[in-house]
Amino acid sequence: MDQTPILSALREMVQKNRLPLHVPGHRQGRGLPEEFAQWLGPAAKMDLTELPGLDNLHHPEGCILASQQLTAAYYGAEQTLYSVNGSTAAVMAAITAAAQGKSIVLAVPFHESAWRGMVLADAVPIFLPGVFDWGRLEWFPPTPDSLESLLLRLTRRGTDVAAVYVTSPTYTGVVAPVARYAEIAHRYRVPLLVDEAHGAHFGLTDLLPPHSVACGADVVVQSVHKMLPGLTQTAWMHRQGGRVDARALELALRLLLSTSPSYLLLASLDAAQAWLRSEGTVQADRALAETAALRTQGWQVPPPGYQRDPLRHWLPTGSLAASRGLAERLARSGIYVEYADAQGVLSVFGLFTTAQEVGEYVQLLGLAGYELSKNWRVELDGLGHAPVAQVQAQANAWQELQEFARAPHLVLRPRRVWQSPRELVLPKQAVGRVAAEAVIPYPPGIPLIYPGQVLTEAICHALDKVCQDGYDIQGIDAMGQVAVLGKK
Ligand SMILES: Cc1ncc(COP(=O)(O)O)c(C=O)c1O
Repeated sequence: MDQTPILSALREMVQKNRLPLHVPGHRQGRGLPEEFAQWLGPAAKMDLTELPGLDNLHHPEGCILASQQLTAAYYGAEQTLYSVNGSTAAVMAAITAAAQGKSIVLAVPFHESAWRGMVLADAVPIFLPGVFDWGRLEWFPPTPDSLESLLLRLTRRGTDVAAVYVTSPTYTGVVAPVARYAEIAHRYRVPLLVDEAHGAHFGLTDLLPPHSVACGADVVVQSVHKMLPGLTQTAWMHRQGGRVDARALELALRLLLSTSPSYLLLASLDAAQAWLRSEGTVQADRALAETAALRTQGWQVPPPGYQRDPLRHWLPTGSLAASRGLAERLARSGIYVEYADAQGVLSVFGLFTTAQEVGEYVQLLGLAGYELSKNWRVELDGLGHAPVAQVQAQANAWQELQEFARAPHLVLRPRRVWQSPRELVLPKQAVGRVAAEAVIPYPPGIPLIYPGQVLTEAICHALDKVCQDGYDIQGIDAMGQVAVLGKK
């Protein structure tokens, strides 16, 4: 069996195609502007279209189907669909296929693509709050018990739940107890959808957490480009069991993908699936050995039931100035992190970083020996770190608002909010109005206010207070205004 069916078909076509009388117009690189052509090199020849033998992503019957089947077999799924529009499109498709016009349990935290999916599917979110850990300054996905009790309450109330949607791992690398979620959701006859955008490498060795297909999830979305060797925008979505309709999933994804999907991206997906089966495990073992120096700090050990992706490093700082200070210190040596925000610094080491590079990072940050129990925020000083007391004061203000966000009451479905006219007003003028956009303070980067939520006096007051405490807030413009529905 051909192990790289798309690459093989492309190779054959590139050799045969003497006179391309079809799009794309650059004619296999001949017409590309020079500097760009040099960067792209011979790969430009592969940028083809649906020619004979190259199959069609929207009706795969040949090399694309064969490649998807190889991927499905690797993960143990019944079906794998390729996305050339990242996990964003796949998440939206999964929500649309499973919960069109219905209610869906949405575990906090979740990525923006889930909200977009709610808009597309015209679904109704039922929030399931996660747990924010003030020691580690990061979110932990909801406990299985909280899922169980929510589903029980909803069943007793007669609410028809179309799906449970969870994110695992989180951006900072916390891996949720997905097998427990699957067992609970299935007991209530509800499919489990998992956004595993950051976990396509899971299961490569026993030292990595298992992937969510192995944990029993019904639909699993993974960005290939985030943790596997794939070009940006490559992703795939796996399905198993009969709880989510295969055809509905295909149709929903088709709606969201270009009718001219890039063959460079399809070739990259094909190469990634072959890599998983040929070199993946050896490379994962090597990566775990090379990055061992990252895993010496006690605060990285997650609470029982949770795991952590060992190939990323979360450094909690508790202040934006501190995080930026650390990121700038690294950048001066040509080292760029994934992000630095008011909670901390996230660095993605992944499968291809050497021990020497890890050593440089550890040394530049002076990480060795720091422990949470030793009051690391103060010890890492010299970078404008927030004193512990200040972090705690901010925490208190935030917790007050968190109470309102814990079970937000939405008066409009996400789709209706999206379609409605809006205007910008100051928080004081927003009392009694309906939020048109999410308001997201940092830390911890999770919405306090969701589109469709009524802004009560208490919420607006707390919002004002949190702003004064120096939070960095997304969803509030430079003039301090928030978006609300309707025009005066
Ligand atoms: C948790 C999560 N899900 C989904 C996405 C969207 O993935 P993609 O960039 O592949 O569209 C992201 C992107 O950062 C993410 O962090």
